[in-house]
Amino acid sequence: MTEDVAGAVVRQWREAEPNAVLLDGFHALKHALRFGAEVRLTVASDRQAVLALARELADDLSGVLAESVVEIPARALRELVPRVHTTAVAALAVRRDAGANAQALSRLPRLAPIVVLDNPRNLGNVGAVVRLAAGFGATGVVTTGDMDPWHPNVVRAGAGLHYATAVERRSLDELPPGPLYVLDPEGEDIRSVEVPDDALIAFGSERHGISPELRSRATRLVALPMRPQVSSYNLATSVAMTLFHWGGPPAVAPV
Ligand SMILES: C[S@@+](CC[C@H](N)C(=O)[O-])C[C@H]1O[C@@H](n2cnc3c(N)ncnc32)[C@H](O)[C@@H]1O
Repeated sequence: MTEDVAGAVVRQWREAEPNAVLLDGFHALKHALRFGAEVRLTVASDRQAVLALARELADDLSGVLAESVVEIPARALRELVPRVHTTAVAALAVRRDAGANAQALSRLPRLAPIVVLDNPRNLGNVGAVVRLAAGFGATGVVTTGDMDPWHPNVVRAGAGLHYATAVERRSLDELPPGPLYVLDPEGEDIRSVEVPDDALIAFGSERHGISPELRSRATRLVALPMRPQVSSYNLATSVAMTLFHWGGPPAVAPV
């Protein structure tokens, strides 16, 4: 590739970047493509290596990647992406449509719970929760508070699975309808509780736990079993246990 062509690709990236979602690495790109992301530009420092990875790990995407991956010098890739992933591929995609998310979150009857994270603080935790929600076929992940659940570090930790479930930030007053199952160590043991498909399952922040506002709205307060003297589990781990207890994924996962 000539310097001019590489320069043009870098400029195209810079222009698209402000409103786009960064898909960092092969894993994130693979998931995003599989779940319908509109990918605008894909760059790699070794195109053949990316295509070989596709043949090995995601042959369903070999065709689309062969048509879309643009090779640029490693130096140019380092300019575009702060921490280049070991697979040395990155892409920019359009954020999942807010209208489609809103529709998925409000659709009734609901086939799978919505995970509510009340003012989460840790970007890696939120990404891990998105990944769990996608894997279990949960309807979506709604966060409250000031963190953007589409922050690049959340998308990175979510392995590109923001396109497989409805991820939105809402105020407490805009939560989707449905019985509210609030997870809190003071609740009743989850082993004696059936979590319904239409539930909102809500988790508190890493620092302060569930807010009094959300707790006061709970249909049920539910606890994960812990031995005495252990005060709590990690947020994403709590979501994993609760989704596992719920029982998904449904035969037809929501999109
Ligand atoms: C790291 S914990 C919060 C710890 C926080 N310092 C507190 O005082 O609650 C994050 C969230 O995970 C959920 N969680 C953690 N352990 C739990 C348990 N044993 N039972 C129910 N929920 C739990 C709760 O929703 C909690 O708000």
